[in-house]
Amino acid sequence: MEAADLDDVMVVERRAFRHPWSTELFRRELLHDWSTVLLCSGRTATGVPGLPAVLGFVIFWLVHDEVHVLNLAVHPAARRQGLARRLMTAAIEQGRTGGATLVTLEVRRSNFPAISLYRDLGFRPVGIRPNYYVDEGEDAVVMSLDL
Ligand SMILES: CC(C)(COP(=O)(O)OP(=O)(O)OC[C@H]1O[C@@H](n2cnc3c(N)ncnc32)[C@H](O)[C@@H]1OP(=O)(O)O)[C@@H](O)C(=O)NCCC(=O)NCCS
Repeated sequence: MEAADLDDVMVVERRAFRHPWSTELFRRELLHDWSTVLLCSGRTATGVPGLPAVLGFVIFWLVHDEVHVLNLAVHPAARRQGLARRLMTAAIEQGRTGGATLVTLEVRRSNFPAISLYRDLGFRPVGIRPNYYVDEGEDAVVMSLDL
């Protein structure tokens, strides 16, 4: 992601979450050396006119030997086509290349689509963080994948 992509990324973020991150939070990710935001571009991925310019994104941090996935979303018009799987696979591969031995993330306990995706990629639940999402007091499931 570059600063010029922010507006298009925010379209996906706002369609994907009831409590979206602010534009400022996304902008901050561009400032950290340890942070990477990978995009799935609508125009190049499909060539279909009328689709949003950005179809999905993943944000991850690589710190020491660990990748931590902070955010992942795909536009509702482009779901169940394997885009999230491709984004996650790319993040995992970049982490592996960068020396990571572990990938971790938190996911809402009720988020069945995301938990299914992560399980499919080999992640296992390793703990619960009670009331992690302060907006609705929902628990987070902590999941991890050994590389
Ligand atoms: C979760 C999300 C990113 C999945 O994106 P996607 O591009 O539709 O996912 P993919 O097409 O790559 O799906 C890969 C696998 O994940 C699982 N999966 C994805 N969506 C699913 C759903 N709605 N129900 C059940 N399993 C699902 C399936 O195993 C799927 O494989 P399959 O299609 O061969 O059965 C998307 O639904 C989304 O943006 N949700 C809102 C934001 C969000 O919850 N982000 C995660 C925060 S932790």
